[in-house]
Amino acid sequence: MTLTNQVSSEWHSFYSIGGGRLSYSSFANDLATFQNMIVRYQCDPVILDLGAGSGELTNLFLGKGIRVVAAEPDRVARDVLICSLRNGICCIDPRDTEALARDGEMYDGVLAVRSLNHGSVEDVKAALLSLSRLVNRGGYLFLYVATDNDFRLVQGKRVDKLVYEPLDGPEKGIQHVFFSFAQLIDLLEPQFAVVHHRIDEKCVPTESAYFEGYSQQARDDMIDRGLVSSHHVFIAKRTDKC
Ligand SMILES: C[S@@+](CC[C@H](N)C(=O)[O-])C[C@H]1O[C@@H](n2cnc3c(N)ncnc32)[C@H](O)[C@@H]1O
Repeated sequence: MTLTNQVSSEWHSFYSIGGGRLSYSSFANDLATFQNMIVRYQCDPVILDLGAGSGELTNLFLGKGIRVVAAEPDRVARDVLICSLRNGICCIDPRDTEALARDGEMYDGVLAVRSLNHGSVEDVKAALLSLSRLVNRGGYLFLYVATDNDFRLVQGKRVDKLVYEPLDGPEKGIQHVFFSFAQLIDLLEPQFAVVHHRIDEKCVPTESAYFEGYSQQARDDMIDRGLVSSHHVFIAKRTDKC
């Protein structure tokens, strides 16, 4: 997916209002499993953090002594990321997934956490297909994307069956694609073997800061939907079976 000026300016406002400091505690065990697989595969691995945002995961892996390339197309996010960097070996790359894939550089592990379910279905499919060009054969992908049970699925303008564009709130104007398990398997399996899958679900408290900036109608719709934040956690090994 090539980030259009419009899309990157939407992320720009997300980070300008302080968005992006997202927690990973609910999938910390999955990240540890991914790390174990990577270091068994390669003794001094390099990880690509795709859509690194303000860098929480980049810093997690740097703190474990792993080399990281943090790819983040949004300038405001990159500034936050650079200021927050821990000691360790880290390169910052301003390109998006497709531009990186065209370059031919490959990594022992690729993290795509909450970064590849934005844009149209075609954009997201193109970005997911690019992943195989970024992961070394035998290396691992960690993919974290919203499921079709996520509470935000009703929020804003419906663009397609599983695509919504929030009309207010911190992610205003950014299209979100919500995936079923079967859709993701179809996209991943030609190049990857799924070695781990879990649904990460948690209740979002009604008083959460997340709801600041939403209209009452948007809040009510999300409350009716059940306020369950729901993401697929995939770890997949690049095999190229076909
Ligand atoms: C919700 S934030 C997630 C940040 C971080 N991964 C986390 O979980 O905290 C999504 C980020 O993905 C980036 N992004 C969106 N589309 C992308 C693409 N095609 N390739 C790389 N990054 C992308 C955006 O610039 C944004 O910073």
